[in-house]
Parts: sequence; structure tokens; C-alpha cells
Amino acid sequence: MTEVVRTATDLRARVDAWHRRNEKVALVPTMGYLHNAHIALIEAGRQSCSKSVVSIFVNPKQFGPDDDFERYPRDEQNDLSILAAHQVDLAFLPPVGEIYPSNFSTTIDVPSLTQNLCAIARPGHYSGVATVCAKFFNQCLPDVAVFGEKDYQQLQVIRRMVKDLDIPIEICGVPTVREADGLAISSRNVYLNEEGRARAAQINVILATTAARLTAGHMPPKELAKAHTQLIEKVGAPPEYIELCNAETLAPVEKLTAPARLLTAITVNKTRLIDNWPVMPPAI
Ligand code: PAF
Repeated sequence: MTEVVRTATDLRARVDAWHRRNEKVALVPTMGYLHNAHIALIEAGRQSCSKSVVSIFVNPKQFGPDDDFERYPRDEQNDLSILAAHQVDLAFLPPVGEIYPSNFSTTIDVPSLTQNLCAIARPGHYSGVATVCAKFFNQCLPDVAVFGEKDYQQLQVIRRMVKDLDIPIEICGVPTVREADGLAISSRNVYLNEEGRARAAQINVILATTAARLTAGHMPPKELAKAHTQLIEKVGAPPEYIELCNAETLAPVEKLTAPARLLTAITVNKTRLIDNWPVMPPAI
């Protein structure tokens, strides 16, 4: 059985009791509508921790006025049965007022990592993410917090915030979990119709082949232009961006000399999809 708590006080009491018994605690922050990628995060937390906490909170501060906050998929009962089936110890389901009381007024910004990629189309999004994660980290005080690499910019923002603010939590990044055809698993995939879903499966193919060509020594500007054209032709829309960035700083890469990341965002069936692929520099 997964115990459910809805207040930070109850959450902290459970985690404190575990720490007194020398248990290590992993926190997996989620917005619910759980799927296999979330399960992979829970399993990754288990590698190093004996207790697992999953938070489920659709964070209003990370949605813009035109985003899908209202229609974001939610299914609390199903989420709780998934957590129970995977032996998660504790579910934290705070109401909005528990996270943002009426006089709440602090925002965390990580500007060096939020000038490009998704931050352009989603102003304020990563401040919302960093702020809510800082709240969860302080409320829970886990030993490890687990995030997927699918939102690679988010993972880097959290890593930077934890370093900059000396938050004593290890951040564990987990490789993107994919459907059989390679489409990155996302709660938003439910918005896709059959035909859009088939086009969306081309995104990872284009990223993988472009990454392989870059590692083989082909030049980034030309490969990015090619990938841009392929996304239009095969996925059916111009990408919001397709960029090669340094794997840690997310600075644009023109010449590949260090580990990098190839990242894209593209809209299919009015659904904004993101994906990314690791790119190693050519062997010398
Ligand atoms: O990746 C998500 O689901 C959310 O951005 C997170 C990390 C739970 C913060 O609301």
C-alpha cells in the first residue's frame, strides 16, 4: 500500500522517521498521469535508496496563459494504483495552497540555462519548475531526486540550481523511455491522433541519424539544416527549434569537441513534443 499525504508537515514527518532509521529516500517529482517513464524514474531511485516518495502536483507556475494547464491529463485514482503496484512508499499530493499559500512571493531563476531552446516559447516555465522543485526538496529533504532526460533543459536547470544553492541532494538523470517505435513517452502523447502519432515517431529517427552523422565528423551547421528539412518533410511541421548544445551549459555548439545534446521541439496535432539525443564528439 502506498501511503498518501497531502501536507508538507506529514511528508517531512515520514521522511524524518525514515532518516532516523538510516533509510535513504528518493523523491520522484511528477505531474501525475503516470506512465512507464515515471516507473523508470521510480526504479532508478530504488537503485540507491530504500524508500521512495512520488509527488503528484500539476504546477500552475510552469504553465503559460496559452498552455494546457486546465486540460493537462489528470487521473489521481489510477496514479495511486500504479504507485501501489510499484511498491512506492509514499505519495505526496498537495493541494495548490499547500505549495503556494496566498502570500507566496519567491521565484527561482536560472538565467544562464534558460535563454534558448524551450525557454524562448515558454517564458517563465523553468522558473516555475525550479521554484516548485526547490519547494519539494525543502519540504521532503530526500537524499536523491530523480528526473528524466526527456526534458533535458529542465534536468540541467535543476542540476545548476542544486549546485548554486548548495542543496544537499543528489540529482539522478534517467535516459528517456521510449515507445517501441522510439517516440519519447510523454503524458501529452494522449493528445495525438493515429496519423499524428505515426509522424511523431519520425522525430527520434531524425535525431538519432543526425547525432550519428555529427559523431562521424559531419559539420553541425549543415547537419542541423538537413535535420530541420527532414522534420518538415517527415513530421509535417517546421520545428520550433533544432539545436546542438553543450551537454552541461546548453550553449550552442558550432564545432563538436565535447559531449553535446541535439534537442528539438515540434508541434504535431497541436501538441508540443520535445525530444533530445546525446552526441559524442568525433574520436580523434
Ligand atoms: O517534469 C515534470 O513533470 C515537472 O516539470 C516537474 C519536475 C514535476 C515539476 O513540476
